[in-house]
Formats: sequence, C-alpha cells, structure tokens
Amino acid sequence: MSANMQQDWKHWRLRREETGLAWLDLDKAEASANVLSADVLAEFAGVLDVLDAVPPKALVIASAKPAGFIAGADIEEFSRLDSVLAARMLVERGWLLFNRLAAVSYPTLALIRGHCMGGGLELALACRHRIVVDEPGTKLALPEVMLGIVPGWGGMLRLPALIGPAAALDLMLTGKSVDAKKAKRLGLADDCVPPRVMESAARILALSGVAKKPLPFKERALRWAMNGPARAKVADKARAQAARKVGRENYPAPFAIVDIWERHGGNALDVPAGDRSSLDTIFSSPTARNLVRVFHLQERLKAFGKDSDFTPRHVHVVGAGVMGGDIAAVCALRGMTVTLQDQSVERIAPAIARAAKLFERRHKGDARQVRFTLDRLIPDPKGEGAARADVIIEAIFENLEVKRSLFAELEARAKPDAVLATNTSSLRLEDIATALKDPSRLVGIHFFNPVPMLPLVEVVQGEATDAEVLRRATGFVRRIDKLPLPVKSAPGFLVNSVLGPYMLEALRCVEEGVAPEMVDAALVAFGMPMGPVELVDTVGLDIAVAAGKALAGEGAEPPARLLKLVGEGKLGRKSGEGYYRWVDGKAVKAGDEDERKGGLWRKRRPAPPPPIPAGLAERVLAPLLAATRRCVELGVVGDADLADAGVIFGTGFAPHTGGPLHCCKVKGRPE
Ligand code: NAI
Repeated sequence: MSANMQQDWKHWRLRREETGLAWLDLDKAEASANVLSADVLAEFAGVLDVLDAVPPKALVIASAKPAGFIAGADIEEFSRLDSVLAARMLVERGWLLFNRLAAVSYPTLALIRGHCMGGGLELALACRHRIVVDEPGTKLALPEVMLGIVPGWGGMLRLPALIGPAAALDLMLTGKSVDAKKAKRLGLADDCVPPRVMESAARILALSGVAKKPLPFKERALRWAMNGPARAKVADKARAQAARKVGRENYPAPFAIVDIWERHGGNALDVPAGDRSSLDTIFSSPTARNLVRVFHLQERLKAFGKDSDFTPRHVHVVGAGVMGGDIAAVCALRGMTVTLQDQSVERIAPAIARAAKLFERRHKGDARQVRFTLDRLIPDPKGEGAARADVIIEAIFENLEVKRSLFAELEARAKPDAVLATNTSSLRLEDIATALKDPSRLVGIHFFNPVPMLPLVEVVQGEATDAEVLRRATGFVRRIDKLPLPVKSAPGFLVNSVLGPYMLEALRCVEEGVAPEMVDAALVAFGMPMGPVELVDTVGLDIAVAAGKALAGEGAEPPARLLKLVGEGKLGRKSGEGYYRWVDGKAVKAGDEDERKGGLWRKRRPAPPPPIPAGLAERVLAPLLAATRRCVELGVVGDADLADAGVIFGTGFAPHTGGPLHCCKVKGRPE
C-alpha cells in the first residue's frame, strides 16, 4: 500500500494503492458500531470531493470495525427530529449523497462483513458492486418499516432494480434480513466469499469492473414486465400482503413503500405533501414516534444483564414438557451444552424431536450445524448434568410439593455458584425457596410459550433472592438472546397478571352474547396480534380456568361457558375445539366456514364482517390497562416504561401505540 492520503477526517480513512485502487474505511469515532450520523455523511461528501479531484481506478468501501459494516442511520438523531421539515431534510441529505455516489465515474464496491442495515445497505446499493463475507454475522436488511418509516435514501429505487420488485418489496415490507449466501442468491451481492480472501476478491472485482453474469433471458423478461406493464399488479399483491398483517391507518409505512416504488420511482421526496404516502404523513403519524419508542424500550431491556460477565456453558433443564423442552432447545441453539432431565427417556424423546425440527428451520437445512446443535442437547434421565451445570432451570408440573422436593435435591447436587431457577407461572417463589437450605439461591426465570418465538423472559426476584443470583440470571437471559424484564414475585408477575383480566373481560363479552369473532375482530383492529378469545383457545381453556383461579383467588367464578366447555373436554386448540373449532391448527370462524371438497377442507369466500360496535375494544382493554398500572404502583415492575416494554414484548400489545400506559397518557384512552 502506498501513496497514502491521510485527510483530516474523524470517521473515514482513505488509502490509495499503487494499482490505483482506493480503500475507504468507515470507523465512526467514539462508537462501537458504524452509524450514518449527519457528520459521518457530511464527511463522506468531503471524501467524494477528494476522489473527484483525483479519481481512483476504483473504490472499495469497507468498515474498520469488528462490529460490522454499517448498522444504519443514527437512530438518536432520528429520535430528536422535531418537525416534518427536519425529517424531509434528513431524507434529502442521504438521497442526494447516495445518488452522487451512484453517479461517480469510477467503479465502486462495498465490501460487507457483519451487519449492513438500513442506510448502510442503501450506501452499498449505490455502489456498482457488492461483495459479502460468508460469516454468520453478515446480515443485510432494510428494516426501516419496523420503525414506521421508509428506506428513503435510495433503497426503494435501487433494491427493486437490482433484485426485482417482488423480492425487494418482500424485504422492505417485512424488514427481515438475509444472510450472505441468500444475498448472493438474490443477486443483492455479486459474490459471497470467505473472510480470508475478501480483500483480494474485492480488489479483483473492483479493478476488473467485470459486470455480473447477465441474468437469464426469462428472468430479464420477468423483471422487465414487473417493472413495466405488470407494475400495478406487483404493487397490488404487495399491498395485499401488507394488509394481511397490518392496517394502513395504524401502519402507513409499508403501504407508502409500495406507492413510492410504484408511482414515484422510489423517490420519497417526489410524493406531494398531503398524499397518504408523503413524508409529511409518515412523519406526522404517531406510529413512527411510537415505534422508535419501542426500539428504545427494547434497547433498555437488552441493557439488563450488561453488568454481568456471567457466561454459562452448561445448562441443566428439569422437565422436558412444552416449556422445558423448548427452553433446552433454545439454549442449545445459542451454543450452550444442555442436559435435559425428565422421568424417563420416553418423556424426553418428543422434546428432542421437536428441537431437531427447530434446529433445521433455524439452520436453514445446514445438516452439519443441525447435528452439532443436536449433539449439544443431551437426554439425561438420571439428572447427572445437574452437578456440572452453571444454570439449572426447573420446568416440571405446577405442583408445589413436587417442586420443593426437587429443589432440595438439586441444591445438594449443584455447584455452589450455579443459578437455581424455576419457570413457575403461578406458585409463590417464596414457598418453593424455603425448601432450599439457602433460599437466597432461588430465582424465577419465566419464559413464555412458544419459547422460540417470544422474546420476553421475566426474571423474578423473590423476597430472599440474592442480588448476584439475580444479576447472573439476567445475564443468562441475555446470553440466549432473550429480553430480560426484572419483576418482583407477585401472582402472575407482570405479563400474566395483565393478560388474565383482559382475557376474562373478552369472555364476559361472549357470555353477554357478543360473538367471539366480533370480540377478536375488535382487538385485532386495535392492533393486537391475535384476538383474546382465540388466545384463550390457544393457551388452553383448562389452563385459563386454573390461571384465573390463581390470579383472582379461589372465590372468583370463571364464566359459565368456559366451565361448560372445559367440562365437555373442549379445551381449545389442543383438543380441536374450544370457543372455536380448530382445523389444521387454525381457528374456524363464522363467516369463513369450511366445506369438505375431495377430502380437503377449503374456506369459502368470507362474508363481509358486521361493523364492530363502538367501545368494544376499549372495554376489553380497560382491565389490562388497570392491571398494568397496578403492577407499576405495587412495584412488580420498575416503572411505567418497563411495564409497557413487558406488555409489548410479552403479549404483542399493539406496538404502534407505544404500549398501554403510553397510549393512555397520550390519548387518555387506548385508541
Ligand atoms: P408439561 O406438563 O408440558 O411438562 C412437565 C414435564 O415435567 C413432564 O414432561 C413431566 O414428565 C416432567 N416432570 C414432572 N415431575 C418431574 C420430576 N420430578 N422430575 C423430572 N421431570 C418431571 O408442563 P409445562 O407446560 O411445560 O409447564 C412446566 C412449568 O412451566 C410449570 O411450572 C408451568 O407453570 C410453567 N410454565 C408453563 C407455560 C405454558 O404455557 N405451558 C408458560 C410459562 C411457564
């Protein structure tokens, strides 16, 4: 490397090789990850000026940070935007700058290792070529939609042009990421290379400027059609895809992305103010602000456990049922050795079979990785792993005496500093803890079902729980990449104690004659991921009765229809019928009755649903709000923001509202 040109930049480093190739490394000052803040972009414009003056033969843009390529725009700056005009200027800054990058006379290449998100991917898309490094950490995405905004720095223009509109819209509307291999397959990257050859691969491609192999004729014709005559069809399909998940009123961004691609060539600045896809509409809707709030809440949960350097290697799980089996599988996926104990090998086998399926999905069919992960998950009917484990999690039947005797036994065998945790939902931690010689060792680590899907885990502090045990338990939850929420020991902790009264109120409405479909539709329209009656069916009617009793006390009477259904053995999804009939894992609702045709269940075209009565959603949500408030008042959860975080990540409570307490504070009611 010679002819180094060191400029006075804080964030960028430019080196020139004798070959004429220039390397530009981003190394954002005083930050662990690269983000495209205003000053980083301003300096980048200065770099382009320097390169314009003496154009290189080619330019490679890379990251000097081990944390990855570029994590995206600076979300702190974005959070501080105080007017639509300021938001517009922010979009304009990146749009113009990346257009300038795309138009330079010399070949450009982005060398992508690690995270390449949002604005980072838009920068890479403005380069002529992209090479991705084949490592598990390499992830590319345009996740703006998750913050309620649009990829306005060229993503909506360049991604559809590069990989075709169908694949591009799918990525932009979901915000999902792709790994290095998939990026290559999609045509998002020119090449996917191992780390040891990444620099030479980048050099060769940038200098040779060899264009990618042209697409096969059929694919080119399809792309031409999708960008031309079939554009409206592709857009309609994408709109329908978005509408299946969210409503435009609550989530304007995905619909705006489709409109901006279809009608404005991907240029958000081109949409007239007042249009429902304009930047004005998007930035003035509360959704973007609230989703940024949710992002910050998530960061706050992630920060728990940062004060612990606990790195458990071995986890022992007792109870291989619904919860224990999945907890064990998730720990194995995160690289830990897991011993899984139950009363017999036969009881462990189904959990291992379920884990194998999960590993196949998560490792996307990579047979070697699936095998390695399965090797880490060890059936242990005799419970020998308990003596070696760093964390022991109990997930056996909800029976106090059985749990007490198990813990007395576990304490005697465990390493002195092993974390002893229970996954109990409804028993008092204090009642279990007194079975231990040292009750301060017991902590609650309360997962939600289904464990692989739900991000929240409540870390429960009992009256006696030692602070260091709590720290380690929280650290462990972060190590398995879940979101820990510290809660005090109280019936139902946070999440179940707010869900219980909410589901009960929904069932009361049904009791009064409102159709389950209507109750569910009202809450789904509000933004809940699933209606409360369907949720009761999913959880199981027997569990709902037991939980209701535990939360409301023995005296409280569950709704008569609930008791009747349980009496008839109609327990919901698991038994094939509850408030709904269940076919192939899906609730059959009035209006979309099935008919049998040739042995297959088919859905009839649904009749238009009757209008939802005013105030129904508010009525069902009111007990949830009251219970959330009560948890804050009683100190079950640290503060109102943490309560919102817990309810959003534990129940899926409509994220666009910013959480139950936040939306009440803003509007005075949950709508
Ligand atoms: P489950 O009934 O599916 O599994 C319990 C397992 O524990 C069974 O396989 C049983 O053979 C085993 N077991 C019982 N006594 C044992 C012993 N002495 N030694 C070894 N294994 C023993 O139960 P599930 O649903 O997984 O619940 C387990 C715990 O997790 C309970 O405390 C429950 O409150 C809690 N929980 C359950 C949730 C759910 O949605 N199912 C959600 C969150 C927590």
